[in-house]
This record gives sequence, C-alpha cells and structure tokens, in this order.
Amino acid sequence: MSEAKKKIALSGVVAGETAICTVGKEGVGLTYRGYTIEDLAAHATYEETAWLVLHGELPTRVQLDAFREQLIALRALPPTLKQALEPIPADAHPMDVLRTGCSILGTIEPEESSAAAPAVKSPAGAPPARDGLAVALRLLAAFPGILLYWHHFTHGRRRIETATNEPGVAAHFLHLLHGRSPSPELARAMDVSLILYTEHEFNASTFACRVVAGTGSDFYSCVCAGIGALRGPLHGGANEAAMAVIETYPNADAAEAGVLEALAKKQVVMGFGHPVYRSSDPRSDIVKSWSRKLAEHHAEAHLYSVSERIEAVMKREKNLFPNLDFFSASAFHFLGVPTSMFTPIFVFARIAGWAAHILEQRENRRLIRPTAEYTGPEPRAFVPRAQRG
Ligand code: COA
Repeated sequence: MSEAKKKIALSGVVAGETAICTVGKEGVGLTYRGYTIEDLAAHATYEETAWLVLHGELPTRVQLDAFREQLIALRALPPTLKQALEPIPADAHPMDVLRTGCSILGTIEPEESSAAAPAVKSPAGAPPARDGLAVALRLLAAFPGILLYWHHFTHGRRRIETATNEPGVAAHFLHLLHGRSPSPELARAMDVSLILYTEHEFNASTFACRVVAGTGSDFYSCVCAGIGALRGPLHGGANEAAMAVIETYPNADAAEAGVLEALAKKQVVMGFGHPVYRSSDPRSDIVKSWSRKLAEHHAEAHLYSVSERIEAVMKREKNLFPNLDFFSASAFHFLGVPTSMFTPIFVFARIAGWAAHILEQRENRRLIRPTAEYTGPEPRAFVPRAQRG
C-alpha cells in the first residue's frame, strides 16, 4: 500500500468526443457502443465484444466466424521477433516484454498507411498495405504469444509454438500458459474478464494512445504509449498491487486488522475507489461472482474470503467500493496466472478499446495539446557560468 496521493488531474474535464463507450453521465453504469456490460458479460464472447468495439455493431454469425479464423491465423510470431524476445532478462516485467514486443513487431511489420505520415508505400502488385485495423488485429492475436514465448524461453529454455487452434483469446492464453486446453469453465472465466477489460472511455492509457494518434504517429507507437501508461499501479497495475496485499493475509481476520492499520496510516488500499465511478464499479460484481465460483475448487479458497473481508472493511470505514482490479486479482490467481501477468491480461483485452480510439482519433485528425498553469520563476537575468560558484 502506498502513500495517499494528490487529486487526479483533468478530472471531469471533457477532452474530446467518442462514440465507443460511456461510463454514463453520472458515473453510473458502463456501455460499449450502447450495450451494457452486464449483457455483454452474460451473453457475448470477447471476440464479439472486440468486433463490436472496433466496428460499432455486433458481428453477424458469418462475420464472427471469419474474425475468429483471422485471429487464429495471426497467432504465429515472426522468427526475428522470437529472437529478439529471447535475450530479455527472465526477471523483466511482463509489461515491459509486451511493450518491447509491440515495438519490435512494428519494425518487422510496419504500418504502411499511417494516418498522417505514410512510412512505406506498397509497390504495385504487392499485398494490400498493412493499415491501422490490420495492425490492431495482429497485436490482438499475437500479444499472448509474445508474452508466453518469452516466459517459457526465459523460465524453462523452451521455445514454444505460439499458434494454437483455441477458438478465442482467453483459451489461447491459458493454453499457452499451462501447455494444455483449459476447461470450458476456466476459459469462460477468462473470457468474461477480457470482456470487462475491453474498453473504458478516456482512461489514462487510452488517452495516451489518443495523444500519440493525434500527432499522426504510427499505430505501434500509440499502443506502446498505452502499455506504458497502463503499467502504473494507479491504473492497470492495481490488480497486481491488490494481489500482493491479499496474499499476505492468512485469513479474513488478519486481513481486517491489516487494512485497518493501513487506513490508520492513511495508506491507499489498491483496488478500491475509482476516478469516474462514485458509488460502485459495475464490473466488480461480475468478476466477484467468478472469483467466488473459481474459489470453490481451489486450494487457496481463503483468498476469496480475505478479499470479501477487505471489501467489507473498506465499505464500513471509508465508504469505498472495489474496482474491477480488486476481485480480478483473486480470479486470475485461481486461474493459475502468475501475478506479474495480471496487467498483461488487461493489455490482451484493452487492445481492442485502444485500437477503436486510435482509429477514432485519426478520423478527427486533431493534435491534443493542452495548456499548463505555469508555477516557475518570473523572467530573470541569465547568470554567467563564472558567477555561479
Ligand atoms: N484507499 C484508501 N483511501 C482511498 C482510496 C483507496 N484505494 N481511494 C480513495 N481514497 C481516499 C482518498 O484519498 C480521499 O481521501 P481524502 O478525502 O481524505 O483526501 C477519499 O478516499 C476520496 O477519494 P476519491 O476522490 O474518491 O478518489 P480519487 O478520485 O482522488 O482517486 C483513485 C481515485 C483510483 C486514484 C484512488 O481511488 C486510488 O488510488 N485507488 C487505488 C488504485 C487503484 O485501484 N487504481 C485502479 C483504478 S481503476
């Protein structure tokens, strides 16, 4: 738990328009392209959700089948990328691996029709230019393989095959992680998590993507900026930080005592509160029910009761609610995901949201450049080097 921080900058400031997603005018509820997060989590798959966010409408059956096939075909990594991943240290943070993998892929398969500054034009007769949407799908399909190729190579000297025939990103990731197909229940739990993490309006990482897109830069640079912003513990890194706290407690009573002590020291409890929601995070109850379900079969089921007690103490003492990251932490743990891969899961999902925003920002063709309130010294006389002591 870290020290309490200053208020959020630009909170409540309308910094642009979007037709992709809203958290509601009063910070209540969440919809992607008009569909509620509850409906999507109950009835859709991640692939349907990603298509919806990217194209504005739910896919037809034919479109969905073609989309799945397209993603499956894009899972294999180019040899140069694999070679570049191998020397990355085993103790590197997986978010740094994703950021690096994204950057390297951008040099091997550059975007050929960047919105403002085309880098390389396809010669006549060559395959169609790799545009922003094509890069988005490539990254959506390749991110789990980038992470797990590096992970298995650096932790076990194994060069894994990153292409599986799993129907969706969720099962594909769990398959690459554990070396076998997940059960339908585990795959669905991960699938729902991806849906919940797909998109969230002008959050910090999406805004970072849009700022880079606004300069006319290439798609990979936009996504690298998003990954960098997401990595921080006040944003995507909160799920890892929450897990680090939850697993220190052997039982619910110890958790209550620990959280009370932290609050007395005015520390921030990771996974609670939200920059936009004021009374609850609509995604939290959904992931909480999955965490409860997964705990039933898990040897460390106490992590669920620890989490529930922390939730109750935070409500009672601070009237604060858990955000998506809090119960995601125990759910991911029950799915056998190492804690350092929690935030990368956020990337696997959010790439769809980032992509939709990058493409939308490009349509607007606007540079984002706010103004600062200057707090430095007034103009003063230059002091020659010899007089500075
Ligand atoms: N733990 C302890 N106290 C918290 C808290 C937390 N997680 N979140 C907010 N508070 C406190 C604030 O410090 C503030 O106290 P004060 O009135 O004494 O200054 C009060 O509760 C109200 O804060 P609020 O205005 O609702 O929060 P914010 O908008 O300033 O900050 C976050 C929002 C997300 C940055 C903040 O809640 C936080 O740091 N949470 C933990 C990190 C996290 O989970 N991030 C993921 C977000 S999706």
